[in-house]
Amino acid sequence: MARRTVVSMPGDGIGKTVLPEAVRVLDAVGFEADYVHADIGWDSWVNEGNPLPERTVELLRQHGLGLFGAITSKPKNEANVELRPELQDKDLVYYSPIVSLRQIFDLDICIRPCRSFAGNPLNFIRRDADGGVDEPLVDAVIFRQNTEGLYGGVEWTDPPEQVREALETHTKFTRFADTPGPDLAISTRIFTRNGCHRIVRAAFEHAAKHGYRSVTVCEKPNVLRETSGMMEEEARAIQKEFPDIQHWSTNIDAQMMWLTKSPENYSVIVAGNMFGDIVSDAFAGLVGGLGFACSANIGDEVAVFEPTHGSAPKYETLDPPIVNPIAMILTAAMMLDHVGDTGRADRIRDAVGAVVQEGSVKSYDMMKLPGGPDVIAKGAATTTQVTDAILEHLG
Ligand code: NAI
Ligand code: MG
Repeated sequence: MARRTVVSMPGDGIGKTVLPEAVRVLDAVGFEADYVHADIGWDSWVNEGNPLPERTVELLRQHGLGLFGAITSKPKNEANVELRPELQDKDLVYYSPIVSLRQIFDLDICIRPCRSFAGNPLNFIRRDADGGVDEPLVDAVIFRQNTEGLYGGVEWTDPPEQVREALETHTKFTRFADTPGPDLAISTRIFTRNGCHRIVRAAFEHAAKHGYRSVTVCEKPNVLRETSGMMEEEARAIQKEFPDIQHWSTNIDAQMMWLTKSPENYSVIVAGNMFGDIVSDAFAGLVGGLGFACSANIGDEVAVFEPTHGSAPKYETLDPPIVNPIAMILTAAMMLDHVGDTGRADRIRDAVGAVVQEGSVKSYDMMKLPGGPDVIAKGAATTTQVTDAILEHLG
């Protein structure tokens, strides 16, 4: 396999802690790569007024493969106060660099696998009919449309007159017609056929490749007839090319209930941006939460891999670090899948599985302890020790 160049974007807080741990695992498994560092996040905002410097965008354009840790974002007023003095009066606006990356490179396919590792103390359990305890094995992969819908960014408070006029052409807008502009907030939910098509196709192709029997569209087509309806329509059309895979549909609200009743029934799930965000966090909660949740953002030219968690600033300065590196390490395995190196990716996942199953090395979250410097004395492994254990189990 050709040597790759990976753009390494640790970002802020624990992003800086966990990303190097993932690189240790990638090296140990024999993935041949050069890592080029790229700045992203709060320091870039404070010092340059841009959390996503152009040189970082350029590196990604050049190499096409990015590994991202996490960034810190803060509310508007705090963001502006922290800018370097000479940048303060320039009307700069902070915008999440990871959302920008998704939009600049059209990383429209977001994949979030949620699979339980046997023996994980954080696995979801439920009561069975005899009053005993039952631990369903969850193996769901969420395909989330990553660039459109409610997070597409087309929104206003006090919308311009033309927007109001356009809305007034809709009979359902009559109820809002008397609301004064400053009291009217609008966030749009724009779906395109192309966006729906691509995410649904990616979901079916994944199901076919990995032997899953169903793809569930998790939307709300009975109410959101136009947008959810379009995704349903695409799913019906695409399913015809995959006769062995069933097309199921659930409503996002009902799915939240079915989640804890029978999560093992779901495999590949596809949804728009916001419902995908919700359903993927919900499934992640069944398989260990933020310490285990990995994700990929994939476009035609560029792909960026990131754990779902943020920068967890309260743990940033702990020495030794205590956060769980597994989410980042599983994220690195997804990057290997993407470049076609599934053999190494599986070796990483197997090693993680073996460490979890064995149970002697556990980060604080796996021990269900509140985080803090005292967790080590209580028997929790440090971040590095968790990685060391994974390295020892690499087959
Ligand atoms: P967070 O994910 O950073 O942390 C929430 C809590 O989850 C932590 O306090 C910790 O208890 C736990 N946690 C997170 N990662 C963990 C790990 N690897 N191992 C063990 N426990 C872990 O979310 P929060 O506190 O809402 O946000 C903190 C900062 O991160 C904010 O500035 C936020 O904007 C940013 N953020 C960035 C994201 C990104 O870079 N994609 C995503 C989410 C939040
Ligand atoms: Mg989320």
